[in-house]
Amino acid sequence: MNGPPLARYDATLQGLARKDRLRTLAPRAGLDFSSNDYLGLAASKRLGDSVAAAIAQGTPVGATGSRLLRGNAPEHEQLEADAAAFFGAERALFFGSGYIANFALLTALPQKGDLLVLDELVHASMHEGAQAGRAEFKLAAHNDVGAIEDAITRWRAEGGMGRVWIAVESLYSMDGDRAPMESIVALADRHEAFLVVDEAHATGVWGPDGRGLAAAFEGRDNVIALHTCGKALGASGALVTGPQTLCDYLINRCRPFIYATAPSPLMAVAAREALAMLSDEPMRRARLHDRVAFAGRQLAERCGVMSSGSQIQPFVIGDNRRTIAVAAALQARSFDIRGIRPPTVPEGTSRLRISLTLNVDKADICAMVEALAEVLAQK
Ligand SMILES: Cc1ncc(COP(=O)(O)O)c(C=O)c1O
Repeated sequence: MNGPPLARYDATLQGLARKDRLRTLAPRAGLDFSSNDYLGLAASKRLGDSVAAAIAQGTPVGATGSRLLRGNAPEHEQLEADAAAFFGAERALFFGSGYIANFALLTALPQKGDLLVLDELVHASMHEGAQAGRAEFKLAAHNDVGAIEDAITRWRAEGGMGRVWIAVESLYSMDGDRAPMESIVALADRHEAFLVVDEAHATGVWGPDGRGLAAAFEGRDNVIALHTCGKALGASGALVTGPQTLCDYLINRCRPFIYATAPSPLMAVAAREALAMLSDEPMRRARLHDRVAFAGRQLAERCGVMSSGSQIQPFVIGDNRRTIAVAAALQARSFDIRGIRPPTVPEGTSRLRISLTLNVDKADICAMVEALAEVLAQK
């Protein structure tokens, strides 16, 4: 007998609770210092109006099938054409989520006999893709170009014959720091490697017109980028941009793309409008950058925080319980700041992830910093 059917799941949950790692779903409340809606597009009138107009013109809610069958709507194709032109790539392909897109890229593209080197801090979806994929994979120390190169050199010395793939984020989701893109591209070129760049937190916010931190390298044969639509673009889904051949290959070989109902055509409309907004409304980006600089100064002065220089500001506390207690105290004061614990971040580095968006103003930032200083003094 194995005991009651739910016992082992209960035991796992109890174990997580003992380690202060149990998660529950909390309703959305308080000032937004935690979302990825950096430019405040999610609830913007223009984005909403674009979807309302599409509905009024008869755009269906559901795609009704796979992109390879009847699910291929004109709205998907229009989005992809605009995205390719906007990001400067040969082709773009729209996926239902960034998670699926990352997973799909790393399971479909690197082949048996290839080597995939991941920055150790890339998103879970890339780690999962590497594990499920066919290539051998190795983790390299965070933002350490030398460590990536060492992994490649060792693998070649041991007889590795295939292609090399390098996977990084351009702006890291839990640390807010940037990848040294130029050096990484130079490294990829030296080793005739492919580079997969997850621009999830850079798209819309950084680079010319918000085209991301790898904008200068799009259009190359060896660069594939991921631009999620659920963060600064205020919608959902993700655009993979890269060479036409690789996108054609994905259409033929990428199972999460082939065997799934296509994303809603309405979401394609929203993502397309959001891209247009990036070009038409540069003030949003300028305002956000101003707020990031302001918050950086405030946090440094009042709380001794070193600025990440981006809209993602970590405050590492270390201990799980204290992290959650500090976050809860801030939430009780109506500041929606979340504690991030392992396995999302490495053991011993639990933190507050303070996110800056246009959903708050400078007065809100001052109040939040004040509250953080007070809470830290008490907890
Ligand atoms: C760096 C990074 N890549 C990919 C994803 C996944 O994107 P999506 O939320 O669209 O599934 C996320 C979202 O959390 C992320 O932070």
